[in-house]
Amino acid sequence: MTVTVVVGAQFGDEAKGKITDFLAADAQYVVRTGGGPNAGHSIHLAEGLVILHQLAAGVLRKGVVGVSGPGMVIQPFAIEQEIQDLERRGLLRGEVVLSDRAHVLLPLHEIEDGWQDDLRAQKNPGAGIGTTRRGIGPAYADRAARWGIRLTDLTRPAILRERLDVLYATKTHLTGLPPMDTLVGDLGEVGSRLAPRIRPTESLLWDAIARGDRILLEGAQSALLDVDFGTYPYVTSSHPTSAGALIGSGIPPTEVDAILGVSKAYTTRVGSGPFPTEDTGESGEFLRRVGGERGATTGRARRCGWLDLVMLRYAARLNGFTSFAITKVDVLGGLDEVPVCVQYVMPDGSTARDVLPSQADDLAKAQPVYERLPGWPEFHERAKERIRREGARALPSTLRRFLTRITEETGVPVEFVGFGPGRDETIRLEVGGGPSSTAGLAAWTG
Ligand code: IMP
Repeated sequence: MTVTVVVGAQFGDEAKGKITDFLAADAQYVVRTGGGPNAGHSIHLAEGLVILHQLAAGVLRKGVVGVSGPGMVIQPFAIEQEIQDLERRGLLRGEVVLSDRAHVLLPLHEIEDGWQDDLRAQKNPGAGIGTTRRGIGPAYADRAARWGIRLTDLTRPAILRERLDVLYATKTHLTGLPPMDTLVGDLGEVGSRLAPRIRPTESLLWDAIARGDRILLEGAQSALLDVDFGTYPYVTSSHPTSAGALIGSGIPPTEVDAILGVSKAYTTRVGSGPFPTEDTGESGEFLRRVGGERGATTGRARRCGWLDLVMLRYAARLNGFTSFAITKVDVLGGLDEVPVCVQYVMPDGSTARDVLPSQADDLAKAQPVYERLPGWPEFHERAKERIRREGARALPSTLRRFLTRITEETGVPVEFVGFGPGRDETIRLEVGGGPSSTAGLAAWTG
């Protein structure tokens, strides 16, 4: 397999970083295809926890090139800091390459992000998105408006000043912006320090494909946060789908071999927006506590609830998943029963199984219908050791049943199971001839 896309199937934080890091052991390139410093990919190494925000997971592996791709909005001062932190800890083992086409996220975007979310909340207290306030929405908006700044501009002082001049003229509604001259100077300096890493990454990847190198496209954020197909307006401003990964890397669709959807064994969400299976009672608290559900970027407590198979079916159809990685199954260990949502009942009495209403308000009123599956034992160290030694056959039979139900309900085989945060706590299952995405789509209409 040459090109594998790794996409989040829920609302983010499914442990995509851990799965990408696992797969990166056999890859030559890992490419972050969208988002920016809103992401926080946690990877547990023997040396300690690493949280990557703007670098691709590949930078932690010797011989791997980690590309921060053209679909990203990159905060140059923060990415430089991230590189330096890894270097200081002796953990920067791969190579860092930054796309010259990636857009620059500026301090003024962070100010504008806060201004926008406050404005929404002022107009209607329920309408705040609860963004990460890292400037993502405004940076993508400026990209679409064509007055954005790109990494390539940082090394061209005259062009940079001209473009910033226009950009500043569009921000007269904001206060507290740094003087433009200071910013031109700071950006020029960081640009010249980063310059050796800034390259046209699309041709780098096309050449790699021609050589038969293995490439992983590492999605950030997730399908249900997609600006078009997520729970608009409670979404991010990029396309964290398989299609978005292609636009965000410059790799054509004909080169993709596999699309891996990553989902937790339950559901979490940070920020506002509809979440039909959210549990604000004891079960939600249990998931938050045992799953350690706190945002890796903002430290906010995540909202928690049971697995939502309606959303997974939707994500499977949208992304064309060829297999799933199901993570954090250990968190549910020890429960008598594990509820999974198999359909919604809508306020008008109709049911929904594989489509989501386009109105977030309607989705917020959907009542989940649960199937209760038998639980599996806790994952003590001895059980984990057995799984490491014997592989999938050491998984509890009730957990296998849970995984099979996911496949029955989505048409997508489960290929990876994560049973702890460590690098050696992921196993690969035999998927043997699971349905292709086309067969999967046909199954929905049958
Ligand atoms: P933004 O991406 O900062 O604009 O935030 C928009 C929404 O996406 C908010 O609800 C955020 O909490 C959510 N979000 C953005 N990035 C992530 C992520 O990496 N994990 C989980 N949620 C995220």
